[in-house]
Amino acid sequence: MSAETQKEQSGLAAIAYVKDGMKVGLGTGSTAAHFVKAIADTVKAGMKLTLVSTSVQTTTLAQSLGLTILDINDVGSLDLCVDGADEIGPGLALIKGGGGALLREKLIWEQAKTCIVIADAAKHVKTLGAFALPIEVEPFAYKGTVNRICDVLAEFEIQKVPTLRKKDGQPFITDGSNLIFDVSCGQISDPAGLAAALKATTGVVDHGLFLDLAEFALLGTDDGVKVLEP
Ligand code: A5P
Repeated sequence: MSAETQKEQSGLAAIAYVKDGMKVGLGTGSTAAHFVKAIADTVKAGMKLTLVSTSVQTTTLAQSLGLTILDINDVGSLDLCVDGADEIGPGLALIKGGGGALLREKLIWEQAKTCIVIADAAKHVKTLGAFALPIEVEPFAYKGTVNRICDVLAEFEIQKVPTLRKKDGQPFITDGSNLIFDVSCGQISDPAGLAAALKATTGVVDHGLFLDLAEFALLGTDDGVKVLEP
């Protein structure tokens, strides 16, 4: 079975947790897109939902499917958020942000009572870090920020240089008008420590480590959808 089919399976499985009247956050990425399409079918079938989005990309997709996306500030707390991940490690520690939406994703996740991760089987890993960790950085004085990030990484024995993410030869700019630096950590042995240290670094807006946020994951596998708990 292809990874795309596994993603579709997990996205469709998440619909079982969506109930009439809920306030739901829509994630970003190719797996979340399957969920968004399924949500559009559910709404067309008559379910009433209040929807918010984690990115311009998802808002554009949702609106093209006839869905109405509200401003999170007009909605408040959410019942549910369903989103993809780049890596799912022990305890459902996650790396997110491969699509560059990590900041808005984290903002929406933090306002949701329940966060469900949807992913294909290859995302489930024993140790986080093979996927490059995205770090969102304020553009002003970014070189100094990158130096501070290198100092933090060294404290965690990660001797890697952050790489500026580019798109079409130009710096990738996030929905929040920031830069992203990706760090190929290899192995992140202390995700909580690294997350806290990065968060405390001046100029770092946020990072792609999502810890203690996911309630469970729905993993699409060749043997069907498996539920992973922390
Ligand atoms: C977007 O910024 C990311 O956090 C995505 O949720 C993550 O990259 C997973 O994407 P796919 O579902 O496309 O693999």
